[in-house]
Amino acid sequence: MEKLAVKTKGLLLICSLILISTVFCESDNSISAMEKSEKEGLYYAIQGFVGNWWNGSELFPDPCGWTPIQGVSCDLFDGFWYVTVLNIGKIQDNSLKCQPNAEFRRHVFELKHLQTLSFINCFNFPHQHPVFIETDNWDKLAGSLVSLEFRLNPGLIGQIPPSFGSLTNLQSLVLLENGLTGGLPANLGNLVSLKRIVLAGNKFSGQIPASLGGLTELLILDSSRNNLTGTLPLTFGGLTSLLKLDMSNNLLDGMLPNELGNLKNLTLLDLRNNRLSGGLTKSLEEMISLEEMALSNNPIGGNLMTIEWQNLQNLVSLDLSYMSLTGSVPESMTVLRRLRFLGLNHNNLSGNLSPKLAALPSLSALYMNGNNLTGKLEFSEWFYGKMGRRFGAWSNPNLCYPVELMSTGHVPFGVKPCQQGVTLLEANSNIKISSDEDSNQKYSILVSLGYSINVVDGSYWKVVLVKQIVIVLLMNYIL
Ligand SMILES: *[C@@H]1O[C@H](CO)[C@@H](O)[C@H](O)[C@H]1NC(C)=O
Ligand SMILES: *[C@@H]1O[C@H](CO)[C@@H](O)[C@H](O)[C@H]1NC(C)=O
Ligand SMILES: *[C@@H]1O[C@H](CO)[C@@H](O)[C@H](O)[C@H]1NC(C)=O
Ligand SMILES: *[C@@H]1O[C@H](CO)[C@@H](O)[C@H](O)[C@H]1NC(C)=O
Ligand SMILES: *[C@@H]1O[C@H](CO)[C@@H](O)[C@H](O)[C@H]1NC(C)=O
Repeated sequence: MEKLAVKTKGLLLICSLILISTVFCESDNSISAMEKSEKEGLYYAIQGFVGNWWNGSELFPDPCGWTPIQGVSCDLFDGFWYVTVLNIGKIQDNSLKCQPNAEFRRHVFELKHLQTLSFINCFNFPHQHPVFIETDNWDKLAGSLVSLEFRLNPGLIGQIPPSFGSLTNLQSLVLLENGLTGGLPANLGNLVSLKRIVLAGNKFSGQIPASLGGLTELLILDSSRNNLTGTLPLTFGGLTSLLKLDMSNNLLDGMLPNELGNLKNLTLLDLRNNRLSGGLTKSLEEMISLEEMALSNNPIGGNLMTIEWQNLQNLVSLDLSYMSLTGSVPESMTVLRRLRFLGLNHNNLSGNLSPKLAALPSLSALYMNGNNLTGKLEFSEWFYGKMGRRFGAWSNPNLCYPVELMSTGHVPFGVKPCQQGVTLLEANSNIKISSDEDSNQKYSILVSLGYSINVVDGSYWKVVLVKQIVIVLLMNYIL
């Protein structure tokens, strides 16, 4: 820092302004250590995106040294500076914003040591200035490129160029929320170093190429929010390192492949909003690391009993709503001690709810509404108080809660007390019967006035009663 003690105040000021950098004040080595072609290539490449008004050589004479460009990083190779990172687009206030008719120039592909290339919020005009991804030249970056990202570019249209298949060093390919269309090229399967592939929020269509199943290093696969059709490839069973698989919001059909059971490290499986069918595949219970499973909004059908839920001890969130499930809620779900969210609403589930569900230590939302559950809810006043409307049991016409809870004010929302509407009939004889299938199910049937009244659903039978009286009155009137 001694060298900063120069005589002219002005230079001192400049030094302090452009970071107090001893490197800058001591020497200008960094200026000379960048090849002219590399430097000019960088300027021309950037200019293509941000506009010709941008004069790099004037504004940033030493881009790898004392006049760094926001979004550009460099590294030394054999004593020379090379660009390793190029981020284009509105990332920060002072970053390189794109002009409306941003374009790819060949110079981008001449940056020999480019490892990271990102375009964020750069191509924004799908109608006035649509831009296609450059189709050729990607092979020139094959030796160096590790991360390629196009994010939030609605004006980026057309297909994934097949030449992406040459980028065999790529570890991360992110094509998130652009206007890309067409099918996914099968040669994406060549990108054997990939750890992350995100294709979400485009308009991709067609089938998922089976070749993706060969990406054995893959940790994250997200193709959600597209228009992909066909089935989940059986080859996905080969993605044994995978942590997150998100194919939600597509048009996928067919069954959940047995091979999913191989994904022992998977923590997230999101297949919501597709057209999957064929029941819950038994091998789902083998995905022992799963923390979040979301299969809602698929006509999957079948029965929850298929799966030994106790094997999935890491489950935190389980969303199986809108799936046309039948049968009852299995006891094995009541041992999932990490479960916070359980959504089984809008199915065709029947039978009783085990009171053990309320004892799950982490549970903070339990949705069972829109089913055909029956009997008396045996949860505590404390549970109803804690959960409020995050316990959804409404729209189960044959469900009720014990009348004693009425006075506490903590009752399940939208559920009737068991004795509602029949208090006048208490003096009559009670006939208690047990259901054939399940001795836990208790129905009280009151027989009175010649009509059977189901205590479980008093209002329904009241309607029947009223209807019959009306019919009798009408008949009297007509006769
Ligand atoms: C940038 O500025 C330099 C120096 O003023 C000039 O020689 C060069 O032609 C300019 N380049 C562009 C592309 O405008
Ligand atoms: C997806 O396909 C549906 C019908 O198959 C179509 O209505 C919709 O516009 C498509 N969405 C996109 C984003 O292409
Ligand atoms: C699964 O995760 C464990 C623990 O993180 C790791 O040791 C193992 O290599 C992973 N398996 C695969 C196939 O990647
Ligand atoms: C529910 O299951 C019952 C009995 O199997 C069937 O009659 C009914 O149509 C189903 N309802 C729905 C909404 O799937
Ligand atoms: C609901 O369950 C009751 C009794 O278990 C049955 O009689 C009825 O058909 C079921 N309703 C539907 C819509 O499945």
